This record gives sequence, C-alpha cells and structure tokens, in this order.
Amino acid sequence: MEVEAKKQEELVPIFIMGKRYEVPASLTIQKAMEYAGYQLIRGCGCRGGICGACGTVYRFPGSYKIEVDWPVKPSSSQTCI
Ligand code: FES
Repeated sequence: MEVEAKKQEELVPIFIMGKRYEVPASLTIQKAMEYAGYQLIRGCGCRGGICGACGTVYRFPGSYKIEVDWPVKPSSSQTCI
C-alpha cells in the first residue's frame, strides 16, 4: 500500500544549474537537491527552520521578479545575509 502511494506521488520539475530534474512535490529544496543526486556537505544549516542558513532566491517561469524565502521573516530581529 505504501509503495503504491509513493508511485502516485506527484513529481515536479526543478532546475539546478540549468539541468532539469523531476522530484516529488513534497520535498524541501535541500531534500530535492539530494533526491536529484547532489551531496550537500557545507552550508546546509540546521534543516529545522532555526538557523536561517537556507535562505533562497528564485524565480518562477515567466516572471521577472526575484523571490526571496527565509525560514524566519525579515521583520524579526534576525539579521539576514
Ligand atoms: S537550514 Fe536552518 S533554517 Fe533552514
């Protein structure tokens, strides 16, 4: 039953350094990079939403806007990069 559920999990395309990968939609960015075969050995942070090391900039297809995502909102007292 669990195997069946995994087979039906939706895959979404992501691009890492211009190369396309299909990864499960439920993964975090770091987990998706590992799923695609990359090994994260430095700057991975806590992976728990505490340290802020995983700040990310990205764009959606067709949009010129650069989006920024941090686990802690900029209005908090935490200093960002
Ligand atoms: S890795 Fe620490 S908050 Fe994301």
